[in-house]
Amino acid sequence: MIVCSCHGVSDAAVRKAVEEGARTPELVAARCCAGNSCGACLEMLEQLIREMASPPTSSGDACRARSLRLKRVA
Ligand code: FES
Repeated sequence: MIVCSCHGVSDAAVRKAVEEGARTPELVAARCCAGNSCGACLEMLEQLIREMASPPTSSGDACRARSLRLKRVA
């Protein structure tokens, strides 16, 4: 799924950047360019960073988190 349409950056690329240590939207932007232009994706970047910092603790949380992500993109 594309999270930054300005640069065609996927959620997988953002997650990889976060896994590699990018813990702020600015650091994610430095690694994969997401968020470097219009800024419309910054909220999604922040959400992905938060999700990866505190993974869901139960399957119900995982479903809810996925549902929220899909709603924001739609
Ligand atoms: S959508 Fe990411 S910078 Fe514009």
